[in-house]
Parts: sequence; structure tokens; C-alpha cells
Amino acid sequence: MPNFNHFVRDSVSNQLSDYAEKHEGEQTSITTGSGNPVGEKDASLTVGYHGPTLLQDVMLLDDLSHFTKERNPERVVHAKGAGAFGYFEVTHDITQYTAAKPFSELGKRTPIAVRFSTVAGERGYPDTVRDVRGFAVKFYTEDGIWDIVGNNTPVFFVKDAALFSSFIHVLKRNPVTNVRVDYDMFWDFVSLRKETTHQTLITFSDRGIPRSYRHMHGYGSHTYSFINAQGVLHWVKYHFITNQEIQNMSSKDALRIAGEDPDFHTRDLYNAISTGDYPSWTFCIQVMTQEQAQKLSYDPFDLTKVWLHADSPLIPVGRIVLNKSPSNYFAEIEQIAMDVAHLIPGIDISPDRMLQARMFAYRDTHQYRLGTNYNQLSVNSAYRVHNYSRDGYGTVVSQGGAPNYHPNSFEGPVIDKRARALSPCLPLHGDAKRIDSGHDDNFSQARLLYTRVLKEDERVRLVENLVDWLKRTTKKIQRRAISNFEQVHKSLGTKLREALNLSEEFHIEF
Ligand code: HEM
Repeated sequence: MPNFNHFVRDSVSNQLSDYAEKHEGEQTSITTGSGNPVGEKDASLTVGYHGPTLLQDVMLLDDLSHFTKERNPERVVHAKGAGAFGYFEVTHDITQYTAAKPFSELGKRTPIAVRFSTVAGERGYPDTVRDVRGFAVKFYTEDGIWDIVGNNTPVFFVKDAALFSSFIHVLKRNPVTNVRVDYDMFWDFVSLRKETTHQTLITFSDRGIPRSYRHMHGYGSHTYSFINAQGVLHWVKYHFITNQEIQNMSSKDALRIAGEDPDFHTRDLYNAISTGDYPSWTFCIQVMTQEQAQKLSYDPFDLTKVWLHADSPLIPVGRIVLNKSPSNYFAEIEQIAMDVAHLIPGIDISPDRMLQARMFAYRDTHQYRLGTNYNQLSVNSAYRVHNYSRDGYGTVVSQGGAPNYHPNSFEGPVIDKRARALSPCLPLHGDAKRIDSGHDDNFSQARLLYTRVLKEDERVRLVENLVDWLKRTTKKIQRRAISNFEQVHKSLGTKLREALNLSEEFHIEF
């Protein structure tokens, strides 16, 4: 059971006392947003004691007109989260796989920002719910921003972006009742799309509720490409292995803590960093040549499948360490803009259909959520930007008077030859048509998880957790879901059927 006592004063509770101690006697005077000194803060400008407030009260106008706009649209997914800053340090040479700058020499450090999150709830949602956790890392490299926007699980529920918004809808509130979880929506979709089975088992295993953000692994999940100095391409997967060890929370503890301290994971991260207990992860990769990938018995670009370690062992690369909390959550974490399309020379994408769609989605949503110039916010800004875009809301970058059109004869920025040399050359062929990928083998890897990875006690809790959600949906949907779980393993189906008092004989309606 987590060591939890919300009456103890911790670093989170002491945030204001710490500030006061540090700034004792400084006597800063209040100003308006435009820096004009304010002489009275506790009273509006009125005509007499009961009189109306005057429009000329610029102090009040300054304060209230800012207050009414203090919220922006929240993330459509992953709205509740916490984040911190630190560095990535190279411990092993992988320059034979990639020419990307962060890996160029042993011991090299690259500044990073990390944001952890839950997926389904809103900005104020409790941390300790059963859900996948986001694990997104922003690297501030000499070649600009590189983001790995992954989760704490190596696979995902669906593998075609055509199904993504529907999947997210079934996780979120029912549009009529405004209640979540709507168990009918969730199990209906999950049982109709069998490719969800692998990720569903992971989510209902112990790892569905981590002890903290520090006690979980992170994964890039998708397959990406590495390009080395000779232009040779390898496929790659990213793993962040926690050095705090995996720890999870029982459903019972999670439920209680969700009520007592909904920000439990947020508090944990802040406290750990404040007390110098810096969380770290070992950054590992799995690598395959194009020829190896072609010989696999499963699709190496299928987001519902892992690469088996027997096919591609983990190669350590370095470590990431978090040693600084944000000084303002909204400025530095709420406004952080993670994007799988933030790539640097030596790193590229793969022919994974989900990843292709994600290349569009993040920039698009950031422009809506944070404005056209979200890249100029300090948490998102690269060390140098030389392009032909100008202006728009919130512009602060002038680019020193350089021309804003290309081509030009006035010393405007020119193409980067190294980036061109490191661009992958992928031979693509095939007929343009819509192919439903949901009929591939959806159960073999889920079976390996159930039979080889999970221990007996973990399998018992998996069944309990599944039953806890399944019992809230209709018999018809229960039966359809069980018939999928039965294809993972006969005994899983039997245990679920027994726990839900369903007879052996039934007709499954799809
Ligand atoms: C086609 C599929 C997907 C689409 C369209 C999509 C779209 C989005 C959108 C719109 C956001 C909100 C971003 C923001 O407002 O800052 C988001 C956040 C996020 N997504 Fe996805 N997503 C997809 C698949 C995935 C997958 C497969 C993963 C993990 C492997 C993932 C991980 C994340 C994470 C970690 C965040 C939160 C980033 C942060 O902390 O700021 N997404 N996604």
C-alpha cells in the first residue's frame, strides 16, 4: 500500500513558505500587467462608500480582464498531467545507427522536458484512475526540438487512425448523460474491434494504475527510423526503463486516494524533485535492419504489437533525469506542445498508419489550443529558428529583418545539406485503397502476455479488474468481450464467464 498521509506537510504544502523564506524582506511592489505601480489593491475605485465603480479603475480592469481569460482549451486527450525538466545523457555509443546530434558523443547532455498524463479525464481529473499514462519527452537539441510522445505501454488499442476518435469517444463522457465511464460504450467498441485485446489486457493488469509517474516505464510505442552518417536506415523502438522500479497501486487504494488526494501523482513528482530524489529512466532502443523487419512473423509497424526481445534485444543508450519542477505549471507544462512531427536529422518516421496520422494531429491541435505561434512560447522554443513564416497572434520573434519569401537574393536562410543527406529514402509501392487491418492476428501476443509475462497472482487480479468493469455492461456485450478473451486463452474466458455467472452456451452477436 502506498505510504500516504495527507496530513503530513510535504514540499507541495511548503511551496509558499519556501518562497517567503527565499524572498524575505525583498519588498517588491505590485504593478499592473504593463508594469505600472499599483497604490491600492484591496478596494475598487467607487463614488463614495456605496457608489458605483468607475470605469477609469484601470487596476481593476487590468486584473479582471486578465482573469476572465486565464483558461485556454484543455487538451482533447491527456488533459490531466504533471511535468518536469532535466537532461538526457548518452552512456552508450549508437552512432552506427543514427547521426542525430543528441547521440553524437558519450557523456553528452541534452536538456529535456517531460510531461506525464492520464488519457481520458479532464484537467482536474483524479490521478489514480485505471487508464493508460502519457509519457512525452521533449529534447532541446542543437537541431531544434525532438519529441518522443509515447505512453507507459508499448502498444495501443487501435492501429488505424480512422478508429482513433471513436476509441477516444468511448473512453470519455457519454454525450447525453455526461457521465464517464460509460461501460456500454467502452466494452461495445473494445469487443467489436479485436485488435484492442492486447492493450486492454495491459490496462486491466496491475500496470493500469501505477504507484506514481516515477514508477512506470515509458515507450515511444511506434516504430521510428534512425539514419546513420552513411545514410543507412534502421527501424527503431524507444523504451524508458524506470530506475525507481515498477510499482503499482491496488484498485482499492487507488479509489480511496482518488477521493482523498486527486493530485496524488502530481504531488509525488513535485515532492520527489524538491527533496533531491531525482527520478531517472534508462533510455534503451530496439533496432532492426530493413531485411530483419521483412522476415518477422508479425508486422513491425503494427501499433498493437511489441517487438519481441528475442527478435530485437534492448540496447542501452543513456539516461534521462528529472531535476527541476516548473516554476509555473501553466506557462511551462500546460503550454508545452509535444508533437511526433518534431523530428531532427538522423531520426524519422515509419510506415505505421497511426503515426502518419499523428504527424498531422498535434500541430493542428496546438494551433487551436495555444495559438498560431505556440512554437515561440519559451517552453516550446528551439535554440534557433530561421524560416519564412512571420506574424500572427503572439509573435515575438523578428528574425532580424531577414526576407520572408523564398527563393530570394537577400541572404535569407538556405537548405541544410546535412539534413538533406540524412533524409530517408523509402521505396514505397502498392495500390491506394482502404484495407481494414483489424483482422490480423490479434491474440498471439496477448496470449504471450497472459501466459508468460503475468504471474499467477497477477492473472487473478487481471480477472478481478476486468470483471469490475465488465459487470457494468449488458450481457450481450459481456458475451462478445469474453469470446475475444477466450481466444487469448481458454482459461481466461472460463474465469470471466464464471465470475459473471454467464452460461457456457451462447450465441455471440457481432
Ligand atoms: C491517430 C492517433 C492519434 C491522434 C489523432 C492523437 C491526437 C492527440 C491530441 C490531439 C493530443 C492533444 C495534444 C495537445 O493538445 O497538446 C494528444 C496528446 C497526446 N497523445 Fe496522442 N493521438 C494519437 C495517438 C496517440 C498514441 C498512439 C500515443 C502513444 C503511443 C499518444 C500519446 C499522446 C500523449 C502522451 C499526449 C499528451 C502529450 C502531452 O503531455 O502534452 N497519442 N494526442
